[in-house]
Amino acid sequence: MLYIGIDLGTSSMKALLMDKRGSIISSASHEYPLEFPRPGWSQQNPDDWWSALRICIKQLLDGVDACQIAAIAVSGQMHGLVTLDKNDGIIRPAILWNDGRTQKQADEMNKYFGTEGLLRETGNIAFAGFTAPKIVWMYENERENFERIDKIMLPKDYLVYRMTGRHVTDYSDASGMLLLDVKNRIWSKSMLDYCRIGEDKLPRLCESFECVGMLKPEAASFLGLPETVRVAAGGADNACSAIGTGTMGDGKCNISLGTSGTVFISSDSFRKPQNGSLHSFAHADGKYYLMGCILSAASGFGWWSKNILRAGSEADEQREITEDDLGSNRVFYLPYLMGERSPHNNTFARGAFIGLSMDTTRSQMSQAVMEGVAFAIRDCVEAARELGLDLRSSGVCGGGAKSPVWRRILANVLKIQLEAAEQEQGAGLGAGILAMVAAGEYGSPEAAFEAIGGKVSICGWDEETAKRYEARYQTFKKLYPALKPTFPEMSF
Ligand code: XUL
Repeated sequence: MLYIGIDLGTSSMKALLMDKRGSIISSASHEYPLEFPRPGWSQQNPDDWWSALRICIKQLLDGVDACQIAAIAVSGQMHGLVTLDKNDGIIRPAILWNDGRTQKQADEMNKYFGTEGLLRETGNIAFAGFTAPKIVWMYENERENFERIDKIMLPKDYLVYRMTGRHVTDYSDASGMLLLDVKNRIWSKSMLDYCRIGEDKLPRLCESFECVGMLKPEAASFLGLPETVRVAAGGADNACSAIGTGTMGDGKCNISLGTSGTVFISSDSFRKPQNGSLHSFAHADGKYYLMGCILSAASGFGWWSKNILRAGSEADEQREITEDDLGSNRVFYLPYLMGERSPHNNTFARGAFIGLSMDTTRSQMSQAVMEGVAFAIRDCVEAARELGLDLRSSGVCGGGAKSPVWRRILANVLKIQLEAAEQEQGAGLGAGILAMVAAGEYGSPEAAFEAIGGKVSICGWDEETAKRYEARYQTFKKLYPALKPTFPEMSF
């Protein structure tokens, strides 16, 4: 039998068709628009995701007998607010994870509950990108839309709803709503009351690898799949990437350089993230994880090379950077193009180049962009080290991790050995694994990953380069506090 793993990303959908050994039979992708109606706002039309699913599945099935498909699972961009009215109409464009319009609502929630209160209720503090502040924003700014809400869901849950008619979510994605008591795996009554919503508006909670139903007849015919295809609840994209890289079990780490950048540390039990600078969420394997998230990672390099330099390709732009250049760049870059989540929690933060001089070259600026992202990831790693976690090796995935020079920079900045899968398939592979478990092919995501395995290539760090980067990182750390007071003056 065959399995479909869907990665519902921010700029595009990627889809994989695989067998039970994880061998990829075919792959497909489709881009959809991302709207920035105001600086710092970020929205998408859920209908575009549904159309993309049909297009991707059609490409995947070219020359394949659809009757071989046993199950499908979706990995989704996290935290997005999708609202439906009582006729299942989409009330407004989905407000995404990297949307910063809700700083006021997040600040007010942090103040109302206090750090300890919120950590007790949900395991997390409020960040502007989370779902609950978006619901409050709708109440305060779009009262008519708010009153029409019949169902609240996350991006991947919208696809599951269209496929099965079941209003469900999984614990890994629900964790990022700030409505879930993550430790006890139940909706938090206090958070629901604060957001003025009843539990009847929220999806039913499931394990990510649970089969939530089969395809509805109209969905099956729209997608060109048989009605017997099982649909798994699916998972949050970072949790699915972690499943796909085998990041399961206590203390394993995975770093993703995608549109966002994340440091993901799996844990057998719930861990309270002290001051809340890291997120404490449920994993898609049924356990838990801690995570730091920066809002612009590979997307920052894409912006720089494509929008600003109009470069031929990202690889061309990195070609001139040699091993000798690592750790000796005098140009710094702050990657806060969409504000910043971990650890600053500041939607007003903005990107910056600092240290430019008449002899600065284009290549140094490109290098600075990759280094700035690595330093921001280091901020997250430091927050984990402060919790006593000893991080010495990590998986690495996402578009940015395909660059050997960026991996080398990251390994030296973090002093962590990085392992990149040779056939890296991102969150789509993790989703495929969830589909296999939902169909009963394997008993758990761990068992499935063990059967699938895969070769990794190792990227280490060396004392000399790491020492140079340590000095650069100490300078980097001073830049955000110095610029912080000026950021609000830049948002008008
Ligand atoms: C994690 C986060 C991002 C999105 C990207 O908290 O907001 O990594 O999931 O899709």
